[in-house]
Amino acid sequence: MFRHDALQGEVIVISGGGTGLGRAMAERFAALGARVGVFGRREAPLQEVVGAIQGAGSHAAWATADVRDADQIKAAIDSLERQLGPATGLVNNAAGNFLATTEDLSPNAFDAIVRIVLHGSFHCTRDLGRRWIARGTPGKVLSIVTTYAWTGSAFVVPSACAKAGVLAMTKSLAVEWATYGIRLNAIAPGPFPTEGAFSKLMPKELEEDALRQVPLGRFGDPAELADLAVYLLGPASAYMTGECVVLDGGEHLKAGQEFARFVDLPRDVVKGMMAALRPARS
Ligand code: COA
Repeated sequence: MFRHDALQGEVIVISGGGTGLGRAMAERFAALGARVGVFGRREAPLQEVVGAIQGAGSHAAWATADVRDADQIKAAIDSLERQLGPATGLVNNAAGNFLATTEDLSPNAFDAIVRIVLHGSFHCTRDLGRRWIARGTPGKVLSIVTTYAWTGSAFVVPSACAKAGVLAMTKSLAVEWATYGIRLNAIAPGPFPTEGAFSKLMPKELEEDALRQVPLGRFGDPAELADLAVYLLGPASAYMTGECVVLDGGEHLKAGQEFARFVDLPRDVVKGMMAALRPARS
C-alpha cells in the first residue's frame, strides 16, 4: 500500500509500543523507514520489539516510563531522542481498561484508568509539543481512542470518560497548535484481538456475539490499523488535523441503527418479512 520509504526521515515515539497495536505500529513504521522509539512500563516486551526491528535492519530504541508520571516521560523521550534523533511524531497508544459495574469501582480504580489514558496522553502530548514549539519544527500526534469516546459505554465508564477527554484534547490542540505546524489526529478502533484488550474486555463466551455486531463479519487485523496510522503520520495527510477516523468494520454504526439487526437474519427471510408488510397493490 505504501512505498518502502514512506516514513523515511521520521522519528516516531509510541507509548505502550511493546505489545498489541503499539507493537504492530512500531514494526510497520520501521519497515517504512522511520526510526522508532517505544516506551512503556515493562522492559521485556519493549526490548523484544526493538530486537525484532533491529533484526530486520531498521532503527529502534526503547525506554521505560509509566505514562502517569510526566517526569518519567520526559526522561524516556530524552533517552529516545539521544539514541534516534529529534522526534517528529508521537503515538498515544498506552491504555488501561477493564470491565466493571460502576457502582463497584473504587476511587482508585477510576483514577488508575483516567491517569493512564487521559493524563498519560496529555503528559506525552505536552512533552513532545513543547519540544517542537521550542525547536520551531513541525510535529504529528496520533491518539488511539475508541468509538465509545462519543457515545459513552456502560461497564467501561473510566475508559469512556478518559477517551472522550483524549478526543477533546485532539480537537482542541489541532486548532491551538496549528500555528506551530503540529497536527493531531485520532483513530477509533473497534474490536482488534490483541492480548491486552481481549484478555480484559472480551469474555470468551461473548466472542461470537461480538463478531455478529461487526457488519464486515470479522475482527480487525492490527496490520490494518498500522497502515491507517502510517497515513495519518505521513505527508499524504498533511491537510488533516483534529480528525478521528473510525476503523471498526461498521460495528458502531450497526449498534446505533434501529433496523440493523435484520442483517443477522438470512436475506431471503428479511425479504419475505418485508414483502409480507407491503400493502397489496390495488
Ligand atoms: N475491576 C474493578 N477494579 C479493578 C479491576 C477490575 N477488573 N482491576 C483493577 N481494579 C482496581 C484495583 O482494585 C485498584 O483499586 P483499589 O486500590 O481501590 O483496590 C485500582 O483498580 C488500581 O489497580 P492496580 O492493579 O493497583 O493498578 P495498576 O496501576 O497496577 O494497573 C490497570 C492498572 C488496572 C489498568 C491494569 O490492568 C493495567 O496496568 N493495564 C494495562 C493494560 C491494559 O489494561 N490493556 C487494555 C487496554 S484496552
